[in-house]
Amino acid sequence: MNTFNVGIIGATGMVGQRFITLLAEHPWFRIKLLAASGRSAGKPYREAVAGRWAMKEPIPSSIADMIVHDAVAEAEAIAAQVDFVFCAVDMKKDEIRALEERYARAECPVISNNSAHRHTPDVPMIIPELNSAHADIIPAQRRRLGTKRGFIAVKSNCSLQSYVPALYPLNRFGVKDVCVTTYQAISGAGKTFERWPEMIDNVIPYIGGEEEKSEQEPLKIWGRIRGDVIEDATAPAITAQCLRVPVSDGHMAAVFVRFEHKPSVEEILQTWAAFRGEPQELELPSAPKQFLQYFEENDRPQTRLDRDRERGMGVSIGRLRPDSQYDYKFVCLSHNTLRGAAGGAVLMAELLVKKGYFDREA
Ligand SMILES: NC(=O)c1ccc[n+]([C@@H]2O[C@H](COP(=O)([O-])OP(=O)(O)OC[C@H]3O[C@@H](n4cnc5c(N)ncnc54)[C@H](OP(=O)(O)O)[C@@H]3O)[C@@H](O)[C@H]2O)c1
Repeated sequence: MNTFNVGIIGATGMVGQRFITLLAEHPWFRIKLLAASGRSAGKPYREAVAGRWAMKEPIPSSIADMIVHDAVAEAEAIAAQVDFVFCAVDMKKDEIRALEERYARAECPVISNNSAHRHTPDVPMIIPELNSAHADIIPAQRRRLGTKRGFIAVKSNCSLQSYVPALYPLNRFGVKDVCVTTYQAISGAGKTFERWPEMIDNVIPYIGGEEEKSEQEPLKIWGRIRGDVIEDATAPAITAQCLRVPVSDGHMAAVFVRFEHKPSVEEILQTWAAFRGEPQELELPSAPKQFLQYFEENDRPQTRLDRDRERGMGVSIGRLRPDSQYDYKFVCLSHNTLRGAAGGAVLMAELLVKKGYFDREA
């Protein structure tokens, strides 16, 4: 396997830090370049993140002294030095949209954690186990952008990374109506308890824009390619409430679901246990062996015990039982900055490597 030189745009942020810890030992990807805002540009990485390094592991020694670049002012120069970039920045949506297109037009593929392009119809939004076939839209996007190599592919929002994987394989029974409440960790806001002490002993019943994303983004993941666009699915109907809870990492969801053809409990459990996607078939380096894990114990999954299952890339499910209003209810859990952000993006990049989308012309 060739190795690929990678740039991290937004390297100083919460998701950027996760990229650094995940990629430091990656078998295919080598961190070549770090970039962030003008506030960090020109500083050694360890200085740029002084007082806000939030990972349990120390900053890898190979990274600590790398000089941070300006992601906006130096976009084309950065694009020329790497094979592709991961992007996770906190900027205005229209600025992110323009920045990601700049990198793509400079023939540098962009694997993005940002929401700006999630509803651009020829930009695939990929959860690798579910809709890897949406990568087939990339040639159409390249035609629009006028590029040979450059394109943008995005990750979906972290809130839905637990319940959409659980529901997706159940669609063989026709998932019709979904009512979900998410309990979301503070790292999802790029924060730690030190930097957000108001979250200790507290719940905040509002996360800006999150409920809309939780209801709409699954329809793109369930969508299909028609011509040069991905058309959203029209079902299931999803209604969501999203709460911020005093947890460092790990988003939990409580789900109610109604089907067109109600399956038995056994059929649901068998479907989850047997579910495998392309990452498992291809044995991608970041792929969990058992993507969906069901717990029989009534008090599992628990955030602290189970968020790191399969190196934070597995989805844990529990408490499946009949419901008096819907057909069934259950809970599920995923790690928001691993499966839900940097880890999911690394897995997507591994998938796109295998599909040849990072190749250079011979
Ligand atoms: N946290 C999660 O669990 C999660 C999950 C999924 C998706 N996301 C998405 O990922 C993105 C980043 O989230 P985060 O939690 O990592 O945010 P964060 O911790 O606030 O980090 C933001 C990053 O953006 C950079 N930045 C800000 N303004 C910039 C500018 N004008 N030009 C270039 N870089 C700029 C910052 O650089 P400086 O340090 O130099 O300011 C920093 O590296 C967001 O779009 C978020 O919605 C986050």
